[in-house]
Amino acid sequence: MKKFVMFLAIGGMLVGAGMAMADAPAAPAAPVPCTRTKFETKTAEDACKKGGQEEAKKAFKAWLTEAKAKDATLTCKTCHANMAPKFDLNPDALKKFKDLGGK
Ligand code: HEC
Repeated sequence: MKKFVMFLAIGGMLVGAGMAMADAPAAPAAPVPCTRTKFETKTAEDACKKGGQEEAKKAFKAWLTEAKAKDATLTCKTCHANMAPKFDLNPDALKKFKDLGGK
């Protein structure tokens, strides 16, 4: 009888461990990488390396808030022909970005 109890106890521990592993939260999803792999700007390069497109969006939103002081008509679409997932640039986007003090 004693052996049987031990067996149950150990069995229970194993099952418990198995469940704990199954219940463990999944690793956070990897960030969506930026479309670009070559960068002309430090803003995009740093943000994309740090946290992919989500981080790049944040970086550009923050930058846009400041750049609007110089050009109030500025929006994402001033420079981007389309948004997620490609964020294609208008032909003069990079020049505008630099002219407005972007790095
Ligand atoms: C003044 C021009 C300009 C404006 C305004 C602008 N961007 Fe950009 N954006 C760029 C340029 C230039 C790049 C490419 C940078 C590089 O090659 O290093 C870029 C790249 C990006 C990328 C990286 C995309 C990828 O996957 O490679 C994201 C995301 C992005 N911009 C989001 C935004 C958002 C969101 C806004 C509006 C809040 C915005 N941008 C406004 C010029 C601009």
